[in-house]
Amino acid sequence: MDYKKLLKSNKFKIAVWGTGYIGLSTMVYFSKKKIKCVGYDINHEKVRKINSGVLPLADLKNWFGFEIKKLVKQNYLKATFNYKDLITNDFLVHFVAIPTEKDGKPFYKPLLNVLTNISKINRKVKNPPIIIIESTLAPKVSDKKIIPFLKKKKLTIGKNILLSVAPRRDWFIEGVKNLENLDRVYGSTDKKSAKVTKDVLSIVCKKLHLASSYKVSEMVKSVENAYRHMDITLANQLSLAFPKDNIREVLKLVGTKWNVETFHPGIGTGGYCIPLSSRYILSQVKDGNKLSLLRETIKTDDGMSRAVANSIAKKGFKKIGILGLSYKGDLKVSVLSKVIPLVKSLKRKRLNVRLFDPYFTKKEIKDAVKIGTFKFPNELPKFDCLIVTVDHKQFKIPKKVLKKYLKKCKLIIDHDGAWKNYDLDSNYHLSGDTGWI
Ligand SMILES: NC(=O)c1ccc[n+]([C@@H]2O[C@H](COP(=O)([O-])OP(=O)(O)OC[C@H]3O[C@@H](n4cnc5c(N)ncnc54)[C@H](O)[C@@H]3O)[C@@H](O)[C@H]2O)c1
Repeated sequence: MDYKKLLKSNKFKIAVWGTGYIGLSTMVYFSKKKIKCVGYDINHEKVRKINSGVLPLADLKNWFGFEIKKLVKQNYLKATFNYKDLITNDFLVHFVAIPTEKDGKPFYKPLLNVLTNISKINRKVKNPPIIIIESTLAPKVSDKKIIPFLKKKKLTIGKNILLSVAPRRDWFIEGVKNLENLDRVYGSTDKKSAKVTKDVLSIVCKKLHLASSYKVSEMVKSVENAYRHMDITLANQLSLAFPKDNIREVLKLVGTKWNVETFHPGIGTGGYCIPLSSRYILSQVKDGNKLSLLRETIKTDDGMSRAVANSIAKKGFKKIGILGLSYKGDLKVSVLSKVIPLVKSLKRKRLNVRLFDPYFTKKEIKDAVKIGTFKFPNELPKFDCLIVTVDHKQFKIPKKVLKKYLKKCKLIIDHDGAWKNYDLDSNYHLSGDTGWI
């Protein structure tokens, strides 16, 4: 049976487990195609907001480029905190989009919770439901955890449950890098699961790539990010090895070669994907020496924030202002943000540190980094050193105003180039240029 047709008939629906960046975007893109989607989340606030047509993640508004109110009103988009709403016979698809990490390590409790809930489905239905795992999995997790778990629950894969692993690559900052446009890799346990996944994903995704199995698609996610992790970390190692040279410029020009991307040095990688990828791979390898490149990558990456803090302390600065808690500009995500260890290292050097991020409240900042905030831009003159860790739009105030507030500042480190066009004086450094560290 064609699952696309079944879903389009509106007799069947899509269940989405976890309504964060990944799950919510899945729901929104499928509901835009007039498919009914219901998301389950343990966060009641998120559920309430979705049901009242408000985006729980306000920073996604620009990314989507449209309101979700209409979709909610038309009954295509709904959320619940009662998992039983999602295990009725009318759900053909179960997208799994819950977190798979905690404190920088693989963490599978939410995944197993969700699988426990899904395993309560009615097994005697004509069209077996499919589980499509969107969450990032470390290599081998399907074989070690998911498949044995489903078997233990007496579900027969390919018969009364179907299974695929289809990781995500969205870039929640650029609207075009979304579920519709990005190449999507998927792999399945059997032919039927693969066919059904294609039926379902092709409703939204334009470019699909079928892997020969779920093991391959599962590994693709970690490996593609580990490559990026190494590339960014090489930029950092070059900067540490040649502190008197403008490695930022070198790498910008290196990036003009047709097969090389541009990377720049900085405080290290953050977010769910990149810093975890090498760890995910190493967690499944018996002899870590065989992947010494990844081990070194993690070591250098984790050490960057300390290196930056040491350099600032050595230069004699005492009052440090940090602009940005997020790991990327215009996103309210502080997961594994390198700003967190940076603040810790600066505090260990007994420096006076304050942080401002327009996306986070005073309390959220306090909870994340245990320091106070400040008023931007009015209180910028309080600091002798500023670190602009991301390029939030709100940091780009008029040049004249900014220059007025920066008069007393003796060192500015700009990670993402938020102020690169402001023509600031020699105290201003893009991370990676001569003298930034
Ligand atoms: N955000 C990204 O850019 C991105 C990109 C690719 C892959 N991923 C992966 O996708 C997964 C989800 O990431 P995200 O960014 O959407 O995370 P998120 O934190 O934004 O959302 C996760 C949601 O799951 C909910 N949740 C937690 N435990 C739950 C449970 N037991 N049952 C139901 N809901 C539960 C949380 O309340 C939250 O709303 C992760 O594995 C992540 O690595 C994320």
